[in-house]
Amino acid sequence: MTCESKRLMRKIKRLPLEQLEPLLLAVPEPPARLDWAVVFGNDHPVEIEVGFGKGLFLVTAASAQPETNFLGVEIMRKYQLYAATRLVKRGLTNVRLCKADARLLFRDAIESESVAAIHVYFPDPWWKKRHHKRRVFTPEFIRECARILQPGGKLLVATDVADYHTIICELVEQNHSFQTIPPPEPHEPRHDMDYLTNFERKFRQEGRTIYRMAWKRVAASENNSGSNAATTRR
Ligand SMILES: C[S@@+](CC[C@H](N)C(=O)[O-])C[C@H]1O[C@@H](n2cnc3c(N)ncnc32)[C@H](O)[C@@H]1O
Repeated sequence: MTCESKRLMRKIKRLPLEQLEPLLLAVPEPPARLDWAVVFGNDHPVEIEVGFGKGLFLVTAASAQPETNFLGVEIMRKYQLYAATRLVKRGLTNVRLCKADARLLFRDAIESESVAAIHVYFPDPWWKKRHHKRRVFTPEFIRECARILQPGGKLLVATDVADYHTIICELVEQNHSFQTIPPPEPHEPRHDMDYLTNFERKFRQEGRTIYRMAWKRVAASENNSGSNAATTRR
C-alpha cells in the first residue's frame, strides 16, 4: 500500500466485526449456488460489482436504488471490512460483500440467468506478462458473465488502461452472447465524492482518459451481428 492509500484507509475507523457481519457473505462451503431470496430476504433484482475496493460505487448505487440488491465481490479482506463500515454507517441493507476471487465465485456459486448487471470498474491490469493470469478478464470469466446474466442484463466496465481496454473489448466481442450498447455518460461531479468509484475520482481529477464499455446479454434468439460501435473515451 502507498502512503496515500494508507492515509485514505485511516480516514474511516472500522466498525466492530459484529456490526459488519449482517453485510458479510461467506463463500458457500462446500461449493453451492447462492439463493438470492435467502441472501437478501427479498426477490429484488441483483447486480454484482467485481473488485469494489473502498466501495464508493456500492454506497452510491445502493443508496440511489433501494429496490435493487447489490453483491460486492472483492479479493482483499481489508477492503471488504472497509466498504462494509461505509455501508453500515449509512444504514444500507441492500448490499452483501463477499471476500472471494470473483472468477471462482461466479463459476461455483452464482445461478445461471440470475443477475441483472455486472460492474467491473478499473480492474487491475497486471502489467507483467507472467502476471496476466491474475487478470479478471479471461475467456472463462466472460463465459461465466454470459451464463449468470439474465437476457437483457448488462456488463459495465471501465478502465484507464488503453491496452487492457482493447483486450477486454476483443474478449467480450468474441463471445456472441453480448451486444455492445452505449455506456452510461459520466456527469459533472456535484461534490467531492460524486464519482463512479474511488479510482474514477482519482483518474478524472488527474485528467486521464477513461475507457467506458457496456454490453447487453442477448437472448439466444437475438442476432448480435454488426453491434460493436459504442465504446466511449472520456
Ligand atoms: C484497481 S482496484 C479498483 C477498485 C475499485 N473498483 C475502484 O474503481 O475504485 C481493483 C480491485 O479489484 C480487486 N480484485 C483484483 N482481482 C480480483 C478478483 N479476482 N476478484 C475480486 N476482486 C479482485 C482488487 O483487490 C482491487 O480492490
